[in-house]
Amino acid sequence: MSNLLIAVGTVYGSTIDLAEEAIEVLAAMGHSAEMFMDFQTNQLNSDSILLIMTASTGMGDIPDNLMGFYCDLLDEKPDLKDQRFAIVGLGDSGYDYFNGAARRLNELLLELGAQPVAETLLVDANEHPDPAEPIASWLATFNAY
Ligand SMILES: Cc1cc2nc3c(=O)[nH]c(=O)nc-3n(C[C@H](O)[C@H](O)[C@H](O)COP(=O)(O)O)c2cc1C
Repeated sequence: MSNLLIAVGTVYGSTIDLAEEAIEVLAAMGHSAEMFMDFQTNQLNSDSILLIMTASTGMGDIPDNLMGFYCDLLDEKPDLKDQRFAIVGLGDSGYDYFNGAARRLNELLLELGAQPVAETLLVDANEHPDPAEPIASWLATFNAY
């Protein structure tokens, strides 16, 4: 059983509902998970898995409520070699920078040495009108933890 810290990045709120559903799926697998709307670097915890669930905005930009975390990582450059993480991007391939927010966060976490526990899931609203379905399948990866 693992503990997951779910850092949500949202503009219009749909990612919050998806994070709540993810918490239920994870709980059914025996994991505990908590959602954060304003995740900060001092909340990182190497005993827990960081799960970022983020929309994109603008030109593949990170939503404001997750931007502080991203900027602090850039400024502080913490050594994250003991931090496990996974990312779900909620994007739309109709935009030029498909899932830009999830991709940027993934790149930065890898640069800082963090350990991915699953391949980043880039959900495309064009393909999946109900993103909860691919997310639930992807979360099965966490059976291993
Ligand atoms: C103004 C606007 C800009 C967006 N920009 C992007 C983008 O650059 N890349 C992308 O993949 N999706 C983009 N999206 C799609 C959102 O990421 C997607 O609709 C997401 O599910 C919204 O989640 P939220 O309700 O939590 O904000 C954009 C959506 C809007 C409304």
